[in-house]
Amino acid sequence: MPRTTLVLAALLALPATAPAAPGAGGDPAAGQAVYQQRCRLCHDRGMMGAPRLGDRAAWEDRLAKGEEALLQSVVRGLKGMPPRGGCRSCTDEELADALAYMLKQVR
Ligand code: HEC
Repeated sequence: MPRTTLVLAALLALPATAPAAPGAGGDPAAGQAVYQQRCRLCHDRGMMGAPRLGDRAAWEDRLAKGEEALLQSVVRGLKGMPPRGGCRSCTDEELADALAYMLKQVR
């Protein structure tokens, strides 16, 4: 095979071998259950200043940070929100899914 073809083939193979998109970009359908079990306690009613589910005004500034930064807030915790939104057993993927579900309600 000519060299250029080899290089091309390697480039084309890249997306397939790259790891699944890390961090943000969760699945909102899967996230609904996580939200119901783990996040709604605070986010349904806006406990301690938590942005309420579906409250566009409350989410506007937060959305401007970008999804990746929001996920970081969940993972690390933010003021009244404990690390991992209080869900120690949640995987990063479950947290991203729950976030995707929440963001879908205000987009
Ligand atoms: C114990 C209450 C509580 C629980 C449970 C909770 N949160 Fe929060 N969350 C908060 C509070 C309070 C804030 C606002 C923090 C601030 O900016 O003062 C917040 C903020 C956020 C933000 C915005 C972060 C930012 O950078 O602006 C996201 C996203 C979020 N929560 C997602 C989640 C997810 C997903 C879960 C479930 C896995 C969850 N939260 C569970 C209390 C909670």
